[in-house]
Amino acid sequence: MQVELDGRVALVTGAAQGIGQAIAHTLVRNGARVVYTDVHGAAAQASADAGGGVAAFALDVASPTDVASGVERVLRAQGRIDILVNNAGIGVPAAERKTIDAFSLEHWDALLRIDLTGLFLMSREVSRAMKAQRTGRIINIASVLGLVPARLQSSYIAAKAGVVNLTKAMALELAPHGVLVNAVAPGSTQTEGWQKWIRDAGSEAQDLHARLMTHIPLGRPGTTQEMADAVLFLAAPESSYITGHVLTVDGGWTAGFSRDF
Ligand SMILES: NC(=O)c1ccc[n+]([C@@H]2O[C@H](COP(=O)([O-])OP(=O)(O)OC[C@H]3O[C@@H](n4cnc5c(N)ncnc54)[C@H](O)[C@@H]3O)[C@@H](O)[C@H]2O)c1
Repeated sequence: MQVELDGRVALVTGAAQGIGQAIAHTLVRNGARVVYTDVHGAAAQASADAGGGVAAFALDVASPTDVASGVERVLRAQGRIDILVNNAGIGVPAAERKTIDAFSLEHWDALLRIDLTGLFLMSREVSRAMKAQRTGRIINIASVLGLVPARLQSSYIAAKAGVVNLTKAMALELAPHGVLVNAVAPGSTQTEGWQKWIRDAGSEAQDLHARLMTHIPLGRPGTTQEMADAVLFLAAPESSYITGHVLTVDGGWTAGFSRDF
């Protein structure tokens, strides 16, 4: 897919690897001036070097001071922010996957702080600049699990459900100011982390993979490029009448049951 982003300034969080990296690279290829940020600064820089970003630096979305100084840095260097992609996020490691009665508060707090509060902090800061510009796009990376929960991942499903509803609320508030807010909700996406998760299952790997695929009518995980192309569409001039939308990119996962009963 090719669109014309015409030098628009984009800020992507969690851009060192995985879906965030594919998003950042794709925005560059379509003409945007992209700032790559990640909690790991050196990895963000390496990613920007590979993709052709205009800048890269360390930004922990869970830190209010990092968020304020990072956004100010972009505004000072680039003059504006046209596209914010709130991609940074963590999942629930295997050791933390427990039923609600045994779920760890420490892990709950850590995940909410990044996946939901981080997105709030970034959006709060950047929306101030976008309101002043009277234009902008905010694109949040949610998850199918924010729409249809799974077991044993209370923190993640609550955070991503929060992202879904916050996306809609921000769309209502920012529409009068020319700022559009949407989300992409990926299903299973074949990142390196995803592949490692399957590999780490050892002798169970084949079984785990097969079980996961039973949820996906298209019968395969998505690619990071397929997620990036959905973000590109929501960043493009062509999507100018879409706001408050959650675009599932999930091979049909949330369409309904894919098995007969
Ligand atoms: N991979 C999937 O199957 C899948 C499915 C649904 C949703 N998602 C969502 O997509 C997004 C990207 O996931 P991914 O699979 O590419 O993950 P990933 O782990 O490969 O990459 C996430 C990136 O975010 C960075 N990051 C983590 N904490 C951060 C923080 N506090 N501040 C800034 N950066 C931070 C990491 O360093 C990493 O570079 C996440 O929001 C995730 O919830 C992924």
